[in-house]
Amino acid sequence: MSIDPNKEGLTVGVVGAGAMGRGIAQVSVTGGMKAVIFDTADGAAAAAKDFIGGMIQRSVDKGRLEEDAGEKAIANLGVAGSIQDLKDCDLVVEAIVENIDIKQSVFRQIEEVVSEDTIIASNTSSIRISSIASACTHRGRVAGLHFFNPVPLMKLVEVINGTDTSTETTSALEVIGKRMGRVPVVVKDAPGFLVNLGGRAYTTEALRIVSEGIAEPHEVDAIMRDSCGFRMGPFELMDLTGIDVNFPVSQIIYNGYFQDKRLSTAPLHESMMEAGRLGRKTKAGFYDYDAEGNIIRPDGPAKVNAQPARQVVLAEPAPALEPLLRDLGISVLKDDDGQSPILAAPIGEDCTSLAVRLGLDAKRLVAIDALTGTHAHATVMAAPGANDAVVESFIAALQQNTNAVTRIKDCPGFVAQRIRAMVANLGCEMAQIGVATPEDIDKGMKLGLNYPHGSVELADYLGSRNTLTILEQLQAITGEERYRPSQWLRRRALLDLPIHTRD
Ligand SMILES: NC(=O)c1ccc[n+]([C@@H]2O[C@H](COP(=O)([O-])OP(=O)(O)OC[C@H]3O[C@@H](n4cnc5c(N)ncnc54)[C@H](O)[C@@H]3O)[C@@H](O)[C@H]2O)c1
Repeated sequence: MSIDPNKEGLTVGVVGAGAMGRGIAQVSVTGGMKAVIFDTADGAAAAAKDFIGGMIQRSVDKGRLEEDAGEKAIANLGVAGSIQDLKDCDLVVEAIVENIDIKQSVFRQIEEVVSEDTIIASNTSSIRISSIASACTHRGRVAGLHFFNPVPLMKLVEVINGTDTSTETTSALEVIGKRMGRVPVVVKDAPGFLVNLGGRAYTTEALRIVSEGIAEPHEVDAIMRDSCGFRMGPFELMDLTGIDVNFPVSQIIYNGYFQDKRLSTAPLHESMMEAGRLGRKTKAGFYDYDAEGNIIRPDGPAKVNAQPARQVVLAEPAPALEPLLRDLGISVLKDDDGQSPILAAPIGEDCTSLAVRLGLDAKRLVAIDALTGTHAHATVMAAPGANDAVVESFIAALQQNTNAVTRIKDCPGFVAQRIRAMVANLGCEMAQIGVATPEDIDKGMKLGLNYPHGSVELADYLGSRNTLTILEQLQAITGEERYRPSQWLRRRALLDLPIHTRD
């Protein structure tokens, strides 16, 4: 037996009337269902009911919700005086404190009062659903239903399958999730589930880059925002979520995957937490903040004062550079004149390796990230000991038609290739280990984190061969297991198959 998820008047019990419980109750009633809120703190459920009523009224006032629908939604909101009042619920969603012992005890109490068919779901962010379910007698009806904050604005909901969750329970939660106006994705019960796991690469790789002295946090942020379309750079994102939140989450996921190096963060992350530079909330993080809490952004890259280069030598044939050189009016010398910049557009290779591989004069070698696009923000690098006058002559030429040019230190994959290859590699690995379908992984990353591309489809966007090459170069140059390519990516890149191709 299982509940009918399409039932009219389906009742959702919400345990915990905090930030998340309020949102879950709100989307239940605006989705045409009934909601009953329970909280152990005196008056908390009633306060939540008033709060939600106010939010719904605001939607009506702003014309986002019909008046009738608003009134009906408010009338469908109820308060439970005790957990017994949840006995007639078809679904109970738990959104209390993140503590396994307390959650298990609450699940036991819920099981005692509801019918055998009632689905019981947890909104936990980090506890295994199977661990919570182990306290229950009927485990097939236990699952995760993981919403994102603020619930009414965040369209995604993860439906998490515990080891014993029945297919009826999963399907019913998908239907109910849709009735709540959300987009459900079905996810495996694994550390970080989908979004919290998939989001690791963006920030941890950025931390690595800064830790290696390749670029400053604000430079990395500007590159990822301006040339890759991310709404926020990794450092402003960490400052916003709070380093006391994202550092422990990184550790939970890293340890949950038995120290897979691809998921490790950098010591800098922990230093920031221990220093109490937690981000926006402490008005100090990777950025400084003014008294009103506004971020103080360092100035963008300064214009270099040099004669723009008129001619270059190409390190190796680079068709990707042709349009740029044409736009800049730069001619390409057939033979090295011993003075002009030697220009390269490497994929995953650093200037040092490139100079040695091709026997070039490393002092005049200038590399530009042509895979990432150069119009809004160009990234340039040179080898240690480079001739600054030569490098700056090329930067001066670039500045004529590019808003910002950031010069970074020598690095395999620059900033954007490196971070995006790591995001894509993690997306592919998630597909390989079945965290969700590749399509759902993409949906989750776009809806849950506002990524411009899903992390699996990003591999195809960059070119799966390019993505694989960046990772192989990073692995070869650094010697680090962290850059080990996912087999999902490797097979599809080598066979020239679309990245979503199933096994
Ligand atoms: N805040 C987020 O961004 C976010 C996002 C996704 C998931 N989550 C998860 O959602 C859950 C709730 O988070 P939150 O931010 O809403 O917490 P919160 O602290 O705002 O609210 C928790 C509420 O639960 C109540 N409560 C505690 N023990 C209870 C019990 N035994 N029975 C009934 N009520 C009880 C508290 O009185 C409080 O009102 C946690 O598991 C958290 O990990 C949070």
